[in-house]
Amino acid sequence: MSNTTQSRDDYWDSYYLGRCSEAEKEPPSQFATFMVQELAPDFVIFDVGCGSARDSLFFSLYGFDVVGFDGCPSAVKLAEGKAKFLGQTSVTFRESMTSGSEIYGAIDQQKDKNICVYARFFLHAINDAEQSHFFEQLAAHLKVGDMLAFEYRNDHDKGIPKIAEPHYRRYQPSVQVNTQLETLGFETIYAIDGKGFAKYKTEDAEVSRGIFKKL
Ligand SMILES: C[S@@+](CC[C@H](N)C(=O)[O-])C[C@H]1O[C@@H](n2cnc3c(N)ncnc32)[C@H](O)[C@@H]1O
Repeated sequence: MSNTTQSRDDYWDSYYLGRCSEAEKEPPSQFATFMVQELAPDFVIFDVGCGSARDSLFFSLYGFDVVGFDGCPSAVKLAEGKAKFLGQTSVTFRESMTSGSEIYGAIDQQKDKNICVYARFFLHAINDAEQSHFFEQLAAHLKVGDMLAFEYRNDHDKGIPKIAEPHYRRYQPSVQVNTQLETLGFETIYAIDGKGFAKYKTEDAEVSRGIFKKL
């Protein structure tokens, strides 16, 4: 497995191209079903690394305004097709990498709204430098009271056999994420590690969840 960002981006592009059915039904993640109960209904959800939009579409169905961001063109095309197929109009998608300015510009444009930046199975899909940049930009652009909600594979997940074919994954302890965000001015309001939160068929990943509020 190569760890270059180019091979990672190629992996995601062919992954979504191979799953191009707009009519395919996908259940939301367990984390998304948890988060709809945690957020007040007036939050706009920015789903970063939204992939095929399984969670974006679920949030939209529950009445949230949602913007899905993904750096992969075929993911965004699939997500837009799914939203159109389902007739969901309170969700839009943008092709954007966290290294670009689109996500942060979109935050600035919604300053009058409460924003939750949600990213599921995303932090382990980016490298250290990308994570630092992402967190620093979120700290610079979000306002007091805005939220972050992250779920990612942690360092205990490294040795667990995976169903999906090998691709770039970075395993880190939750203390690293929580400390990095606290240093940047976020309060950890919920944090948990363990199995059973993201079970998929025979795979029961070791994950960390964190909800953070901008101080
Ligand atoms: C593991 S998938 C998660 C998809 C979805 N959130 C879920 O839980 O099913 C990771 C996603 O992050 C996207 N991605 C990876 N690096 C990115 C980056 N630097 N900026 C934006 N999107 C990125 C990939 O294209 C992929 O869709």
